[in-house]
Order: sequence, then C-alpha cells, then structure tokens
Amino acid sequence: MSNSTNERTGLLNEVIQNINNRRAVRKFKSKTVERILIEQILNAGRMAPSALNKQPWRFYVLTEKESIHSISKEIAKVTVKHVAKLGIKEIVKSILHYIHSPKDFSFFSQSDFVFHDAPVVIFVTAPNDNEWAPIDIGMCCQNMMLAAKSLGLDSCPVGLSKFIEETKMVSRLGLSKKETVQLAVLIGYGDEVPELKERKKDNVVFIN
Ligand SMILES: Cc1cc2nc3c(=O)[nH]c(=O)nc-3n(C[C@H](O)[C@H](O)[C@H](O)COP(=O)(O)O)c2cc1C
Repeated sequence: MSNSTNERTGLLNEVIQNINNRRAVRKFKSKTVERILIEQILNAGRMAPSALNKQPWRFYVLTEKESIHSISKEIAKVTVKHVAKLGIKEIVKSILHYIHSPKDFSFFSQSDFVFHDAPVVIFVTAPNDNEWAPIDIGMCCQNMMLAAKSLGLDSCPVGLSKFIEETKMVSRLGLSKKETVQLAVLIGYGDEVPELKERKKDNVVFIN
C-alpha cells in the first residue's frame, strides 16, 4: 500500500497503532510506576465523554503491594464461591471466556489470578443511580489503558474487581453506599507480550 493511502486510512497514525497494540497484560515487572504517570493516566480517564457530561467516575488508586495482595486474596475467595455455584457446563464456559490460546492457561497458575501482581490497581466506581454509568466507565477505562500504552506501560481491565463489595476489604476503599465498583484497571510495566486475539469481522452491516 502506498504511503499516501496509509496516511488517508490512518494506518500510520500513532493513535490507531496504539489501539491495535494494546493487550490485556497479566504479567508485570515489579518496577514501580511513577506517580506522574499515574496522574497522566487518570487525566486521560477524566477526558472520556460521559452521558449528560456527568463524569460519574471516581478513582481509588492502590499502589501498596500488601494492600493489593490482601484485596486480591479476598476477591479470589468470593470468585471461587461464585464459580462453585455454577454447573460444570457453566464453569467450562466461564473458563473458556478467558482462554483464547493455550498460553492463557498460565495465568491460572499465578499466585494472584485477580490482579496478576500488578503494581497499580485503579478501582473505578460510579453512582448507583446513573443508568449510563457502565458505558461512561468503559470509555473512561479504555482512555486510561490507551494512555498507559502510549506511556510505555501495560494494563488489564478486571471485571472480577466488583466482587470486592462482597468482601470485608471493601472498607479499605471507603466507598459510599451510593457508588458501585464498575471495573478495575491494572497498570504496570508488562513482562509478557500476549498474542493478538483475532477480532471477528462478520459484524458490520453497511446500510445503503
Ligand atoms: C469488562 C471487562 C472485564 C474484564 N475482566 C477481566 C478479568 O476479571 N480478568 C482478566 O484477566 N481479564 C479481564 N478482562 C480482559 C479480557 O479478557 C480481554 O480484554 C480479552 O480477552 C481480549 O484480549 P485483549 O484485551 O488482549 O485484546 C476484562 C475485559 C473487559 C472489557
């Protein structure tokens, strides 16, 4: 493809390359993430669009190893309880949900299968009474993950984080009763380069 076509289609565009190169990373170096980078990532989250410009997000940032591990342990217990309630078919289905290649099995052997020993965990909450919040928070978290990638960091969104509300560790965050955890984003210097999980291409209808 000629350079001019690349430019027109954005194939050489840094933003698009960043989007294409982001992966859910589940193995991190123990290297500390500088505070200034965390602030930049949070600012990128704040720049997300939100319904009625409500900016419903609130960020709870954990950087202390011990705290992260003890919260992870409690969430793991709740996760196991939830999995135990499922039938065998559902268990296989939920495992397959995470697994896209044989390499993905490695994260089950990690001591921390919730936060994957990430040096930074950002819980993102939203008010319970905002029907658009899950969409807004999704956009906010994607902004953070792309910002992280552009700064030489890696990330992983963690839905299991919502189980913190079923653990005694929820008091560590000091959440109000009016907000709910929507997602957590792990940030750190990646220690793996996961393969691209092929995207489905049969989901577009151009209407004439
Ligand atoms: C809402 C949401 C929740 C997720 N929850 C988890 C999770 O709890 N644990 C985990 O390891 N990955 C989690 N992921 C990451 C996905 O498994 C991952 O994005 C998907 O397999 C595609 O891989 P990629 O991000 O590398 O393209 C979550 C992703 C999203 C969007």
